[in-house]
Amino acid sequence: MRAALLRNIGDTQLEMRDDIELTAVGPGEVRVKIAATGVCHSDLSVMNGTIPQPAPCVLGHEGAGIIAEVGEGVTTVAVGDHVIIAWSPPCGECAYCGPRHQPNLCFNIQMVMGGTPHFTLDGAPVAGMAGAGTFAEEMIIPHQGVVKIDDDIPLEIGSLVGCGVMTGVGAVLNTAKVTAGSSVVVFGCGGVGISCIMGAKVAGASVIVAVDLNDGKLEDAKRFGATHACKPEELESLKASLTGGEGFDYAFEAIGLASTMRASYDNARRGGTACIVGVGKLDEFVNFSAFELFFSEKVLVGSYYGSADVRTDFHKLLGLWRDGSLDLDGMITRRIKLDDINEAFEAMQRGEVIRQVISF
Ligand code: APR
Ligand code: ZN
Ligand code: ZN
Repeated sequence: MRAALLRNIGDTQLEMRDDIELTAVGPGEVRVKIAATGVCHSDLSVMNGTIPQPAPCVLGHEGAGIIAEVGEGVTTVAVGDHVIIAWSPPCGECAYCGPRHQPNLCFNIQMVMGGTPHFTLDGAPVAGMAGAGTFAEEMIIPHQGVVKIDDDIPLEIGSLVGCGVMTGVGAVLNTAKVTAGSSVVVFGCGGVGISCIMGAKVAGASVIVAVDLNDGKLEDAKRFGATHACKPEELESLKASLTGGEGFDYAFEAIGLASTMRASYDNARRGGTACIVGVGKLDEFVNFSAFELFFSEKVLVGSYYGSADVRTDFHKLLGLWRDGSLDLDGMITRRIKLDDINEAFEAMQRGEVIRQVISF
C-alpha cells in the first residue's frame, strides 16, 4: 500500500513508499479507505519534534474516507459508510465521556503520543500519527475514531472538519464561548486561525481582528469574516483605536509559539479570555507575573480539539457548512496528490496556503 512515512523525528522529508502494510482488523476496529486528507501544521510539528510521537510513523490525522472492513463487534458503522476520522476518539464510557461532558479529553483510546501501531514495514510495527495516519491509502482505527456522515458530503470537506475546522471553530464556540457583539483577536491565519475567524463570525462577534506575518493571509482573513487584519507590529495601534486600549474580549492563539501565546494574553482585556489553540513545544515556557494573573482576572484556557464531542459537533459543523455559515470549500488553497506532500509542507512553511487537501 502507498503511504508517506516519517522515518525519524527531525527528518525534513517524508518517504513515499509502496510497501507499507496493515495489521489485521481487530475486534472493535475498522479499516478505512482514505479519500481525502488535509495537511495540518500538527503534521509538521511531529516531524520537527514539537508534538511527541514515536517514529517511524505514518503522518496525517485530518482525514475522511469510506469504511472498507469492520472488526468483530462493530455495530456503529458498516462497509461503505462515509466517515470522518477523529484523532482523539471518545470511549463513551469514562468520566470525561459521561458526567464531565469533556469527551475530547477522554484518555481511554487517546492515541496522541502512541496508540497501537496498525501499519507495518518489513513486518515491523509502524505507528500512525495520533493513532490515525491518513497519509496512506488505508488505515485502521478503533470504531470510536470514525464518525459517519451523509454520503452527499464531499469527503474533502469532511476531512477538514476532522481537525482544523473542529479545532478552530470549536475553540471559539465550545471552549471560549464567544458571545454576540464581542471583540475578538486571532493570532495566526492558517487553517486553524481561519476557522477561529469563521467561528467568531458565527458567534456574532462584532469586531474580529486577524493577525499574521503574511500579507496574503491578511487578505484571506477578511474574506472569511475578519473585520480588520494587521501585522503583529500594527496590533497595538489597532487595539487602541478599536478597544480604547483596553484589549479584546477574546484572544485566540493559533500558531503554537510561546511569544504569541503571551501576546494573546496581553491583548485580552482585563477580565477577558485568552484561548490557546496552537500547539507549542513541551520545553518552551510562557512567563506570567505572579501578580498579573490575580490582578487582571483574565481567563487563560487551552483548547484541545476544540473541546469537541465529535459525535455531535462534526454534524453541527457540517450543518453550518451546508447553510453557508462556514466556507470550507474556500479554505482549500490547493488540491494535491500524496506524492506532493513534501512540497506541501514547504508551501505551508512559506505561509502560502490555508489548507492543502490530498485526494486519493
Ligand atoms: N505572528 C503572526 N503570525 C504568525 C507568526 C507570528 N509570529 N508565526 C507564524 N504565523 C502565521 C503563519 O504565517 C501562518 O499563516 O501563523 C499561521 C499558521 O498557519 P499554519 O502553518 O497553516 O498552521 P495551522 O494548521 O493553522 O495550525 C496552527 O494550531 O493545531 C495547531 O499544531 C497546530 O500549532 C499549530 C496551530
Ligand atoms: Zn472516555
Ligand atoms: Zn491537525
